[in-house]
Amino acid sequence: MKSDTKITSLMIKSHQQIEQLINQFEKSLGRDSKLADKSFLELRIGLEQHFLTEEKAIFAFSQQGNDKYNGIPNLIQQHGIMLEMINNIKNQLATKKSFSISEFKTYIGKHRMIEEGILYPKLDAELNESQKQFIIKKIEEIPSLTEKYQDEND
Ligand SMILES: [Fe+2]
Ligand SMILES: [Fe+2]
Repeated sequence: MKSDTKITSLMIKSHQQIEQLINQFEKSLGRDSKLADKSFLELRIGLEQHFLTEEKAIFAFSQQGNDKYNGIPNLIQQHGIMLEMINNIKNQLATKKSFSISEFKTYIGKHRMIEEGILYPKLDAELNESQKQFIIKKIEEIPSLTEKYQDEND
């Protein structure tokens, strides 16, 4: 049943986009500093937009089912930690010395598993159709990152 997995599949798609931005940035490291700066900006905007979508469009409305998920504050705290990590990466990038983003990748990988493996399937299973459609509409209202990035650069 397709509509039963709609939030999960939408957010998996969004996670895959973030993963691509991470890979693109990682590949540019130590090669081309201009490309690395551009890839970093795309990643940072992408992550901020993704976290915003989750917090404003999903987490805020995820407490409507009978069996509530109580890990939301933890997930929000992890968003803050990842934004700090991104800020550190920005500082490291500015030094032009080589560094690794493997700690960040491991951290975001674990966070993603909680969302894809627990939270989103739970919401798809427990919210009723109109609650789900409400969240999906909120997700779709938020413009894609790349569009936002391009607008800023026009
Ligand atoms: Fe998240
Ligand atoms: Fe996420």
